Amino acid sequence: MASLMLNSVNCNAGRALKFEYVGLRPVKVHHNIVGANLNSIKIAPLKLTIRAADDGARKKIGLSDEECEAAVVAGNVPEAPLVPPKPLAPAGTPVVSPLPLKRRPRRNRRTPALRGAFQETNISPANLVYPLFIHEGEEDTPIGAMPGCYRLGWRHGLVEEVARARDVGVNSIVLFPKVPDALKTSTGDEAYNKNGLVPRAIRLLKDKYPDLIIYTDVALDPYSSDGHDGIVREDGVIMNDETVHQLCKQAVAQAQAGADVVSPSDMMDGRVGAIRAALDAEGFEHVSIMSYTAKYASSFYGPFREALDSNPRFGDKKTYQMNPANYREALIETREDEAEGADILLVKPGLPYLDVIRLLRDSSPLPIAAYQVSGEYSMIKAGGVLKMIDEERVMMESLMCLRRAGADIILTYFALQAGRVLCGEKR
Ligand code: PBG
Repeated sequence: MASLMLNSVNCNAGRALKFEYVGLRPVKVHHNIVGANLNSIKIAPLKLTIRAADDGARKKIGLSDEECEAAVVAGNVPEAPLVPPKPLAPAGTPVVSPLPLKRRPRRNRRTPALRGAFQETNISPANLVYPLFIHEGEEDTPIGAMPGCYRLGWRHGLVEEVARARDVGVNSIVLFPKVPDALKTSTGDEAYNKNGLVPRAIRLLKDKYPDLIIYTDVALDPYSSDGHDGIVREDGVIMNDETVHQLCKQAVAQAQAGADVVSPSDMMDGRVGAIRAALDAEGFEHVSIMSYTAKYASSFYGPFREALDSNPRFGDKKTYQMNPANYREALIETREDEAEGADILLVKPGLPYLDVIRLLRDSSPLPIAAYQVSGEYSMIKAGGVLKMIDEERVMMESLMCLRRAGADIILTYFALQAGRVLCGEKR
């Protein structure tokens, strides 16, 4: 897509594109450097000369400058192409005098080069975080409601998918585990099992790709027999502080395995500060916290819950996730998360909540993340499969719009597909 600018440093990361460094090493006097657009630079202390390889390529081809100038002065003006005739309008076009406009914004949109020059927002594979579903199995299992997404076998499929993403410059992932039912309990204790699926997968990935940025999800729902993000009391109340205690243990277990960024997505009060303190107490001062600051009780999470079999067994998540009707409330969460030491603030879902992304962008100097969630992904995929929309263009536009609204990074199931487009690797 011509209108998408990309960061060439991030694109092609990890592939065989080699830039040879041509420095000022005193290798040879009068050493020819191919491609250097210099004539002859003398560097006194090193007694070293750099010559352009195309020396002599700009040969004299005719008259001297003086002769050319004299010819023009004498009236012998050389020929140049004529201005092309004005293109014809179709027959029947009304003849009107031009509107007296001082400003015609269309002037700056006239050609691809002008549009490229004035493009305000850009997107690069480095802005994308790739959410990956993992399970204990050996095979990759397709997720019905999310065409193109799989529950990846943590030992093989996961590693291969990460390699594909890194190939197009997407070097950040976030892991979501499908936990066997037999390991789910009402207190979600499997969440902090040091040998659980997520810590094991982190260790494997860090062993293979030490520079991969691994985000983790901190919440109890994949481990909870109730399918809730917190511990559920007999009367259905989600217990806040007790849940936070569990989340701290979960975050520490993930950090111990090598996670770079732990991401509490549970919406309990006070969890960012508590997790920060727990990480610091265990010597993980360098591990970042990406807080799901404004996470709404959204119906757009449906396909994700199918993927992980994490639907709440009863009720809904409205006592902890935010009311989709609320805007100002996102500011309350922002203030708390900032004060408690969050490193990144996240808004979720993405596209239907662009106003909230902009609110956080304008209210906080912290990096802002947007989560283009499963329902958003599935709608674009479905529209594409049914040939109702151009999937690739809608995908790229939706990501660009999230950036324009103020997101620094975007969590998206399209990360690999979009990375390929950004690297010109359409397939
Ligand atoms: C739960 C969690 C959810 C998602 C990420 N973490 C779902 C939920 O709150 O029920 C949703 C992501 C998506 O829909 O893509 N901790």
